[in-house]
Order: sequence, then structure tokens, then C-alpha cells
Amino acid sequence: MEILLDSTNVSEIKKCNDLFELAGVTSNPLIIKNEGKINFYSHFSKIRKVIGKNKTLHIQTLASTADEMIAEARAILNKIDDQVYIKIPVTEQGLKAMKQLSREGAHITATCIYTRMQAYLAIAAGADYLAPYCNRMEQMGIDFRAIIAEISDVLERTASPAKIVAASFKNITQATDALAAGANTITVTSDILHSACAFPPIDLAVKEFHDAWISSQGKNSK
Ligand code: E4P
Repeated sequence: MEILLDSTNVSEIKKCNDLFELAGVTSNPLIIKNEGKINFYSHFSKIRKVIGKNKTLHIQTLASTADEMIAEARAILNKIDDQVYIKIPVTEQGLKAMKQLSREGAHITATCIYTRMQAYLAIAAGADYLAPYCNRMEQMGIDFRAIIAEISDVLERTASPAKIVAASFKNITQATDALAAGANTITVTSDILHSACAFPPIDLAVKEFHDAWISSQGKNSK
């Protein structure tokens, strides 16, 4: 199981990477927009420095044609590092780019997945990660849990090495449901991560233990 942070904010990434065992960081142009105007390559190089070489960094292409996506991907791999996961939307042009880039040995994260068939086409094109958009599906009345369960079943039956990185969450219930349905990996915002332990009964229990110790053993008794 892997937990990724869906963020391009360097201090947020530093803080979460310090607190949690993150497996990596994901991004898209909407997330980057929160940072204002950035220098694309140096910003992501900074993020790579913060998370280190062993974690996955997923950077999305912006182009709409396969040739442009391939050129963008090559530049990312050249200027940031060759282990970056190139995030490519599952469009027809995206699938064409995935096919070529996977032949070149690039790591690929297939994104913007709303349907099972998109996932299957991406697997066939050589994607390493498949990113179904859970909250966006839910808003459209699509049961993302059922979609993830079916994709996960196909991956298992066909012994495919591709992994599901469930994405687009608005709350922790969606994220835990995606894991329960069969996702290996989730990418979540820092707000969702912090909300995992922000549950008053947890603090109450910790205080109860602390008070019991002090009242029975006294202060400085260890
Ligand atoms: C991953 O990085 C996805 O692009 C992201 O989780 C999508 O989230 P959104 O639906 O909130 O834009």
C-alpha cells in the first residue's frame, strides 16, 4: 500500500514527508496553479530534492497531441530526472504517447480515468499507474468503488504489474473506500492526510492515559 501527496507546495511536501511515510508526490496543472507563476523545471527539481530519489514523482504533460506530449516528457526526464513518472491523460493522443514512451523505458501514470475501458487501454499501452478520478466520478453519479474493484480484478487475473493510484478525493471516506475496493495506492491532499488523526476521541484517549499515569505514578516517575 502506498500513500502519495497530491501537492506541489514545497513546504507542505516537506512537512508531510517528515510526518508520514509518503511513497511520492503527484501533481497536475490545477495543483500547480495554487503556487502562482513557477519555474517549472526548477520547482519540480526542488520537490525531487525534498522527497529524495527513492520516492515517485508524477508530473503531468500539458500538450494535446502525442508528439508534443512525447517531447514534453523527454524534456522532463532530461531536466528533472529519468525516474519521473510522466502523467498522461487517457485520450487517444495520450495513449499513442504512452505507447512510444513506454517503449523508450519511461515510467507512466495514466490519468483522468473515468471508465474501465480507459484503464484497460492504458494498461495495454504500457502504463505503470492508473489514476481513476474518484470524487469527480462520484459527482457524476458513477460508482468509483465498483470501477476500482473491476480494474483491480482484471489486473490480478491478467497478472499485470500496473497499479491503481486512486486520485481526486474530497474526503477521507472516499480515500479509504478506494483502498478497500482494491486500489494499491492513493494520492491525497495534505488536508485529507491531516484529517486522518484529527478525531477528538483520539486526543481524549491519549489524555486519559497521560492523566492515569501522572495520578498513579506522579510526575518525573520514569
Ligand atoms: C492527481 O494528481 C489528480 O490529478 C488529482 O487528484 C485530481 O484531483 P481533482 O479532481 O481534485 O482535481
